[in-house]
Amino acid sequence: MAFLGSSLSIILFVWAWLLRCSLSSSSNFLSLSVENPEHVIKSSNNNFTAGFYGIGENAYAFAIWFTEPRQRNLTVVWMANRDVLVNGKGSTLTLRRNGNLVLNDAGQVDVWATNTTWLKSPELMPKSPELILKDDGNLVLFEHPNITVWESFGFPTNTLLPGQRLTRHTSLVSSKSQTDPSSGFHKLFFDNDNVLRLLYDGPELSSIYWPHPWNLPAQIGRSIFNASRFVFLDLYGDIFSTDNFTSETSDYGLVLQRRLTIDSDGNVRVYSRRNWEDKWYVSWQVISAGCNIHGGCGENSFCKYEPYNGRTCLCLPGYKFKDESDSSLGCQPEFNLSCNPQDSRFLRIPNGDFYGYDQGNYEDLTLDECKKKCLEICYCKGFQYSYENNHFKCYPKTLLVNSNLSPAFQGGFHLRIPNSSTFTLQEPNTKCEHFKSVKYARVYWSRQGSILVKVLLWLVVAIGGFELAYIVLFWCLTLKRSSKEQNYHDLTGTGFRKYSYSELKEATKGFREEVGRGAGGIVYKGVLKDGRVAAIKRLNEANQIESEFLAEVNLIGRLNHMNLIDMWGYCAEGKYKMLVYEYMENGSLATNLESSKSLDWRKMYDIALGTARGLAYLHEECLEWVLHCDIKPQNILLDSDYQPKVADFGLSKLQNRNDVKNPSFSRIRGTRGYMAPEWVFSLPITSKVDVYSYGIVVLEMITGKRLRVDGPDHSHHGRLVTWVNEKKKKGKEKETSSWVEQIVDPTVEGSFDMKKVEVLVTVALQCVVDDRDARPSMSHVVEMLQSHEIDSQINE
Ligand SMILES: *[C@@H]1O[C@H](CO)[C@@H](O)[C@H](O)[C@H]1NC(C)=O
Ligand SMILES: *[C@@H]1O[C@H](CO)[C@@H](O)[C@H](O)[C@H]1NC(C)=O
Ligand SMILES: *[C@@H]1O[C@H](CO)[C@@H](O)[C@H](O)[C@H]1NC(C)=O
Ligand SMILES: *[C@@H]1O[C@H](CO)[C@@H](O)[C@H](O)[C@H]1NC(C)=O
Ligand SMILES: *[C@@H]1O[C@H](CO)[C@@H](O)[C@H](O)[C@H]1NC(C)=O
Ligand SMILES: *[C@@H]1O[C@H](CO)[C@@H](O)[C@H](O)[C@H]1NC(C)=O
Ligand SMILES: *[C@@H]1O[C@H](CO)[C@@H](O)[C@H](O)[C@H]1NC(C)=O
Ligand SMILES: *[C@@H]1O[C@H](CO)[C@@H](O)[C@H](O)[C@H]1NC(C)=O
Repeated sequence: MAFLGSSLSIILFVWAWLLRCSLSSSSNFLSLSVENPEHVIKSSNNNFTAGFYGIGENAYAFAIWFTEPRQRNLTVVWMANRDVLVNGKGSTLTLRRNGNLVLNDAGQVDVWATNTTWLKSPELMPKSPELILKDDGNLVLFEHPNITVWESFGFPTNTLLPGQRLTRHTSLVSSKSQTDPSSGFHKLFFDNDNVLRLLYDGPELSSIYWPHPWNLPAQIGRSIFNASRFVFLDLYGDIFSTDNFTSETSDYGLVLQRRLTIDSDGNVRVYSRRNWEDKWYVSWQVISAGCNIHGGCGENSFCKYEPYNGRTCLCLPGYKFKDESDSSLGCQPEFNLSCNPQDSRFLRIPNGDFYGYDQGNYEDLTLDECKKKCLEICYCKGFQYSYENNHFKCYPKTLLVNSNLSPAFQGGFHLRIPNSSTFTLQEPNTKCEHFKSVKYARVYWSRQGSILVKVLLWLVVAIGGFELAYIVLFWCLTLKRSSKEQNYHDLTGTGFRKYSYSELKEATKGFREEVGRGAGGIVYKGVLKDGRVAAIKRLNEANQIESEFLAEVNLIGRLNHMNLIDMWGYCAEGKYKMLVYEYMENGSLATNLESSKSLDWRKMYDIALGTARGLAYLHEECLEWVLHCDIKPQNILLDSDYQPKVADFGLSKLQNRNDVKNPSFSRIRGTRGYMAPEWVFSLPITSKVDVYSYGIVVLEMITGKRLRVDGPDHSHHGRLVTWVNEKKKKGKEKETSSWVEQIVDPTVEGSFDMKKVEVLVTVALQCVVDDRDARPSMSHVVEMLQSHEIDSQINE
């Protein structure tokens, strides 16, 4: 019996010993095997897990991820061997007796090691060393509870966790793609001048894209004198960098989990989730217009940014994709160019912008001289031609990369193509269709009570559901945040944020100074805590669901253009709904027209052009869901240089829903006198309603004949248009241009170029024709005014 017992205990002992060996051989403190799914290290709060993470077939990385409640895709925050994956058989992570933590591939080669050693020999250690995953996600190798030998926070991959610092010795590098975790081409790092930057470091090209390369650090409030160099995200959602870059996530405050990640598209985002079971949502991103990220679209392609679809790459005319499935590889020409200048011609791409690779930078050349400069270079692929800061700029280019197609860029690219070719510029605008139908439907719904309309209404509710899903999804994906670098002209822009009611009450000293009043609500002047003067619009009591309000406000907040009023934030607390805008010292166009002394012809032309640019931005880029629907001089504000900024856009969206619930509201949006005939005849509402109102505003400005907004009917504007048309017709018959002199406001000061005013009137008259299809688009208006502006500059 004793023999049996002792032999059993020996067997048990041997078995236990063998088991122990398999876990950690005697020469190691710890060994984790890829084959045992239970070989993981968990943090004491169970928020994080470290272990082998399967990436592809039989390919593993040693990683740290957020523990998930159920089996689902894991969010990895750190990887030991992102570039060299290990085999699913025989691979181990071992803490060797000498203090080195080693990842071995299939029992053969060590693919990764911490290269650490103990300070004391293990025999002299009071306690055995430990590898611990701390509650913040930091994997730490302790020689002794007081001595840290190595920590994963010191070697980030593409993610920073709250409290983790990115320092001068480390950088965040994006993954190649969403499915390939290996080191990609985008990098967040501290540059030699102590400034935090984003770099595209591709296989062939490399360039800095954030902060925007032509902004000096000092211009955007960055400091170059603090050599401490670190940046971190804290538990509350503050982002703080030693170069004075600070920002805040949109969900400021304690939430369950956050992470800051440089995504494979080159943008840096903060993701949050409030509950363990929830999905991650984006609460901050550094670049809001995806085309400002370099390396997104390859050579010879346009990048077009659309808020709904994100980034789209399109080949230049005459070029085709190298690989249809990967637009980042760029496009190749379908033609051969010869060096002979006679064999080339140029195709103008309005608003096309390619950054970098200029073969020269010429000022004040005419278009033809610039063409010649390009043709002198055999490999010149085209040139950028624009008018900036009172100079014509000419940049011939041999490499077409880092493109951006946006009305914010007010110049054009002239692409070199063979003389004999027939390539033309097609409007690369195909993806908008389904959004348009949704949007129009919204405006349609409550006009009459017929059965047809009720049927339509149900249809619309169904479509609206889809739209809401879109909006929410979209909101989750790309929330508008700090936009320091978004617009070329916007250096002062700061983060978009939520304000509390008490904050705004304090800013406005209890809503005392009223500066405006409109259909949507009353506007007050206020001074924010940071000293900025703001216009605070208190919306009429809205029963809108808060999440919808937030989604839409965030969409509006994303719009950023020098001719649109900047929205700084909002407040949504119960029944209080407020919007916070920048304050315009020079008031509205309406007040300026009334006082009549402040505007001269030059300013008026600029106002007409700027307003058109702002509206073109609203309408194009697939943003047509933000029809303004209420263009009038009261909604065109003037900054200190008398540059116009369109205000109150997007409010139609915030109010429509309300109108439906509250039948006493007027069905028709807009202001009498400025409304297009479509409204009256219940025709589908398109962006052309804004074109119409714009035309009326321009005519009013030129003629000095103000509309009486409270007038009894729409006949006044009709009379204005007829009157101008008649004068023009008579003038044309007599072949004089003195008709312009007859219609212009005689009280306006300053000399004026009659030709320019004639262009303005002509364009305005095109805008107010009854047939909406015959009216030009807003971007066409911009082109017409702009081209004339340039002509007259040449003549001057
Ligand atoms: C994560 O950690 C926090 C703080 O320690 C804790 O409140 C929370 O319950 C943890 N979450 C999970 C899913 O364990
Ligand atoms: C997990 O990831 C795969 C591939 O990216 C995706 O197809 C799948 O929908 C994801 N599953 C969940 C639950 O998110
Ligand atoms: C450890 O040393 C090896 C060989 O010198 C080196 O290739 C590797 O990058 C080092 N590992 C770390 C984490 O520094
Ligand atoms: C570890 O540090 C704590 C406080 O920092 C100290 O009280 C303790 O004596 C240290 N332990 C050892 C073994 O040095
Ligand atoms: C840091 O930023 C603040 C405000 O954002 C600004 O007032 C200050 O001048 C900046 N400091 C430097 C050194 O640029
Ligand atoms: C650099 O920034 C850190 C953090 O704000 C600050 O503590 C430190 O004093 C700064 N150093 C200099 C030289 O300004
Ligand atoms: C361009 O030239 C190459 C070789 O010189 C020729 O193979 C190709 O067909 C030409 N392409 C066109 C579009 O003419
Ligand atoms: C190219 O076009 C220009 C103007 O259109 C013309 O003058 C020139 O002769 C053409 N050259 C060739 C080689 O066709």
